[in-house]
Amino acid sequence: MRSRPSGTADAYRRFAELEAHGNSPTYEALSNGVAADPELLELLDLLPPGKRQPNLLLAAVRHLGGPTASYREFRAWVLAHWERVRAVMLARLTQTNESARCAVLLPLLAALPQPLALIEVGASAGLCLYPDRYRYAYDGAEAFGHPDSPITLPCRTSGPVPPPCPLPTVTWRAGIDLNPLSASDPEDVRWLESLVWPEQRERLTRLRGALSVARGEPALLLRGDLNATVRRLVAQAPAGATPVVFHSAVLAYLPGAARQEFVRTVRELPCHWISNEAPGVLPGLKERLPVPVPAGRGVFLLALDGRPVAFTSPHGQRLDWFAREPGPGSTAAPGPSHPMPVT
Ligand SMILES: C[S@@+](CC[C@H](N)C(=O)[O-])C[C@H]1O[C@@H](n2cnc3c(N)ncnc32)[C@H](O)[C@@H]1O
Repeated sequence: MRSRPSGTADAYRRFAELEAHGNSPTYEALSNGVAADPELLELLDLLPPGKRQPNLLLAAVRHLGGPTASYREFRAWVLAHWERVRAVMLARLTQTNESARCAVLLPLLAALPQPLALIEVGASAGLCLYPDRYRYAYDGAEAFGHPDSPITLPCRTSGPVPPPCPLPTVTWRAGIDLNPLSASDPEDVRWLESLVWPEQRERLTRLRGALSVARGEPALLLRGDLNATVRRLVAQAPAGATPVVFHSAVLAYLPGAARQEFVRTVRELPCHWISNEAPGVLPGLKERLPVPVPAGRGVFLLALDGRPVAFTSPHGQRLDWFAREPGPGSTAAPGPSHPMPVT
């Protein structure tokens, strides 16, 4: 088959290098394999741009029971079962739900006026809506948090991180998602498990623990587009609680105009706003950074009310608080759209 330049090949190569490397040798090898495979790239490029992501392909294959031990077996299986793989990729979204992101949100949440009404946009199964129900171990220190938590979230930090305790008091939890997943639905749970990378047994244990927390205290999860629904949820927050709209690994899925609309809306609403997204996804934030974005590793940028405060690692394992204040605001447009977001 003829070979041709493909943005998809670049995306798979970047995924291998920046995300899978050091985290999943299996995914690193498979995504490097896809990046150099014109036949698979050709099939992927027939999918809509938002459906070509490495995480979506790899999770779909595992969801269907395909082999991942070697690229040779993987590619043969994918080619033989492409219609089934394609159907799962079209039907499902990369909805990786990582409760460990609560460890990077916690210092901001703990510093806000309590109690809190939490509203997560792009909530998946809502596992980040329980920051007060988990335990935490920062920098290897003794864990603290909810005594009944089935999981402990480890996080390395640097810089002047505000104290993450006492834990926030959460009186209301609500979320919006295009496709809310249910912690009580076995098929949704199986998809969430397929999204956890193969070697990451700890993440699987954490996912199962967080799902049990969510099952025990279901949040209000609405189906809808975040721009169409966020006002309604903020208006529904109970009186006497501080409404906090937050999101992580979500806005990269939206086109630039929709991101700008969200920023305009959330700034007008009577709420605090916490964003945890790749740098450049949100209009104006990257321009205010007091330090350059670290090269060679995937990072997210944590911000409170549009003010950058820290770099975080995309799955919540690191929190690097800025020692310097951010620069003045900017009216810059959002960065390029990210058709293959970090999940
Ligand atoms: C990668 S997951 C992140 C889930 C969760 N925020 C976390 O940090 O674990 C992204 C979620 O955003 C949702 N999403 C994407 N675009 C959306 C939109 N326009 N409105 C609402 N939800 C959206 C997806 O369905 C998916 O569940």
